[in-house]
Formats: sequence, C-alpha cells, structure tokens
Amino acid sequence: MSHTQSSTDSSAHGSMKLLIGLTVLGFLSLTYCCEDPAQGAINLARNGTATQSSNNVHSNPGYAPKAIDGNNQTDFSGWSCTHTKPEDNPWWKLDLLKSYRVNHVILTNREDCCKERLLGAEIHVGDSPNITDNPVCATIMDVSSGARIPLCCKGMEGRYVGVFIPAPSSIVTLCEVEVYGQKIEPGPRVCCYLSHHWSLAIPVILLQNTFQFGIRSADLN
Ligand SMILES: *[C@@H]1O[C@H](CO)[C@@H](O)[C@H](O)[C@H]1NC(C)=O
Ligand SMILES: *[C@@H]1O[C@H](CO)[C@@H](O)[C@H](O)[C@H]1NC(C)=O
Ligand SMILES: *[C@@H]1O[C@H](CO)[C@@H](O)[C@H](O)[C@H]1NC(C)=O
Repeated sequence: MSHTQSSTDSSAHGSMKLLIGLTVLGFLSLTYCCEDPAQGAINLARNGTATQSSNNVHSNPGYAPKAIDGNNQTDFSGWSCTHTKPEDNPWWKLDLLKSYRVNHVILTNREDCCKERLLGAEIHVGDSPNITDNPVCATIMDVSSGARIPLCCKGMEGRYVGVFIPAPSSIVTLCEVEVYGQKIEPGPRVCCYLSHHWSLAIPVILLQNTFQFGIRSADLN
C-alpha cells in the first residue's frame, strides 16, 4: 500500500518539478534580454546619426555625435561627451536609419561632475522622428551606481532612440550611447508574438510558407 502511495507522490512531485521548470524557462526566455548584450554584439548606434536640441557654447563643444564616437570615457574635458545648452526640455536623438528591435540601450554618463543632470531623463524608442511621440523604454531614477547605465528595452521597435529631459533649464550630456538589437525581418507581425511563444511557431511557419507559396504561384499565372 505504502508503495503505491509513494509512487503516486513521486509522480505528482515529478509533474510539479516539470511545471516549475517550464515556468522558469518561460520566464528566462522573456527576460533574457535584460542580461548584458552577447559578447561581440554589434553596437547599432555606431552606424547611426545623432542630433540634439542645442549645442553648448564652450571651447569644448559637446556636439551630438560625440555620444556615438565609440569612446566611452567619462571626463568632459576628454572631448568625447555631448552637451546641450541649459534649456527647457532638452533632447538628444539617434537615428538608426532603419527600424530595429531594440533590446538594450546603454548610456554612459559624465563622471567628472554633474552626473545628476541625467536624473529624470526619458529614453524613448520608436519610429517617429518626434521622439516624444514614441513610447518610453525607461526613465533614469538613479545615477549613483557608476557611469554605465544599462537599460532593457525588451525588443521595442524603432528607428529613433531619444533621450529627453522633460524639465525647465536642464542639460542633456552623454558620454556614450550604445544600442543593441536585431533587424526586423520583413513578414507578418505574427513573427514577434511567436518568438515569445515558440511552441506555436512551427505550425504557423509551415502554414505561412504554404500560404506564401500559394501567393507566388498565383502571381505567376
Ligand atoms: C555599418 O556600416 C558599415 C559600412 O557601411 C557596414 O559594413 C556594416 O554592416 C554596418 N553595420 C550595421 C550594424 O548596420
Ligand atoms: C512632438 O510630440 C509632442 C507630443 O506628442 C507634441 O506636443 C509636439 O508638438 C510634437 N512636436 C512636433 C515638432 O511635431
Ligand atoms: C568603456 O568600455 C570598456 C570596453 O568595453 C569597458 O571595459 C569599460 O567598463 C567602459 N567604461 C564605462 C564607464 O562604461
């Protein structure tokens, strides 16, 4: 009797373990993009173009492209950080030239002084060149843990990455902005849902191929 009992228990135990395992796997697959970018991942920002709401007037001009020059040093006197004028609602904007699925945006803050200037900055990602029309990936609430500020944008789609400070007489200053993500493959939007629900992907991909093949043969007629 006790034998049957314990075997039932252990099989229930097994299913529970399986369930927990699957839940953890599912959770990891949804959140893995918040790990650092894979080693050797390409920084998409390097091929983009950068602009900002104004340039500081200073012997060391903080032009917008200095945040995508590949130099992440954090001292303003090193000529590699951006700097707007103090103004209402200043912004910095990166145009990636086409849309990407953006997983990570890594900001490098200035460290020689003034790192609190980035507090309250909103990072917008989307396809509108008017960056504040695009959804917010993150708002900077803490600048105390070093110059490197990694943000997870969880695959937000967009061509533009904007840094916007919605406050009066503020300054946007950035020593580097890195962007990591993937190309958006052409095809129906269903691809993006399925990348998170992979068990459905195979039948749908099969169906989609059949469907596209059907269209192509119809085109030939
Ligand atoms: C960046 O531009 C270079 C030169 O045009 C090109 O070879 C490279 O593939 C581009 N990288 C990305 C990520 O688009
Ligand atoms: C940009 O978007 C904001 C918010 O939607 C809007 O208030 C503003 O007028 C827009 N600016 C331009 C130049 O279209
Ligand atoms: C700058 O980049 C180097 C090389 O990737 C890295 O080791 C260093 O931690 C970065 N510095 C900051 C402040 O992020």
